[in-house]
Amino acid sequence: MSGAGRGLGRIAARLRAGHGLPVYSPFCRDGAFVVLFMATGRIGPGQMRALLAALHDEQRARAAQFQRPADRRDYVAAHGLMALTARRAGLGEARLRQPAPGAKPRLHLRSTAPAPDASLSHCRGAVAVALCWQGRIGVDVEPCLREDIVRGAALFCAPAELRAGSRLIGQAVPRHFVRLWTLKEAILKATGAGLSQDPRGIIPDLGHGLPEAEPALARGGPGWELRHCPAGADHALSMAVLRGPETGAAGLRQGARAAVAACGA
Ligand SMILES: CC(C)(COP(=O)(O)OP(=O)(O)OC[C@H]1O[C@@H](n2cnc3c(N)ncnc32)[C@H](O)[C@@H]1OP(=O)(O)O)[C@@H](O)C(=O)NCCC(=O)NCCS
Repeated sequence: MSGAGRGLGRIAARLRAGHGLPVYSPFCRDGAFVVLFMATGRIGPGQMRALLAALHDEQRARAAQFQRPADRRDYVAAHGLMALTARRAGLGEARLRQPAPGAKPRLHLRSTAPAPDASLSHCRGAVAVALCWQGRIGVDVEPCLREDIVRGAALFCAPAELRAGSRLIGQAVPRHFVRLWTLKEAILKATGAGLSQDPRGIIPDLGHGLPEAEPALARGGPGWELRHCPAGADHALSMAVLRGPETGAAGLRQGARAAVAACGA
């Protein structure tokens, strides 16, 4: 039993040993938060059964609605991994549910344990899940070389971010924009705003000292921890944590201008 956020560093190893899931944890702080990443391309039938068995009926019904088998697999993998991670974190039976369309999903527990904040992401071929006991968390995973993200950069990037991208060549271009996209999505998932908030106004500091003045969420100040790393061979993963017990509007005003810490490849 891990209790309120304890033993988080062992969860990935236990899921590998217990279910054979190809999962690892790129970001973890014991007692505070854990992020797990799993590539889904090579998940076998036995592992899929374990993930499917962890779903509630409602989630199984939603899974059945996906037209493409790969999308169904990734949905089952994300929500199954969330349920199994919660169980390994000592929370018992848990289910992620949206309180309303477009709202940040909440983790519902059968037990009376305090529910951590939670976030998940599924894209073609990979999933990420996150639990956080000290603040709010968001995760986002995307393929590294998504050309549509590069083409649509003006829709989510500030002018300085576009200029920084225009100075790059080769694969550094999609890397730059995918990194920004996943970081911004992670921030917007942590706050729960999602894409109802304009991502161009959120400018994570990539260490280039972007000069632009930013609106509320991106202004300087403590409270945010942002991390990014390549994940598996083909994906990129970002995490955003808004720390502290204050998770209301005052917390948001503290800003997201935290330097982005990169983890090793
Ligand atoms: C969440 C969002 C930012 C990104 O989604 P995406 O990159 O396409 O997909 P991802 O797999 O990375 O993330 C999807 C997951 O984010 C979570 N999510 C959805 N809305 C969220 C929100 N407001 N805040 C935090 N997380 C959210 C869900 O768990 C969802 O997966 P699920 O539907 O299987 O439970 C985007 O869908 C969004 O902004 N949604 C909320 C606003 C919205 O839906 N507006 C339109 C109708 S009101």
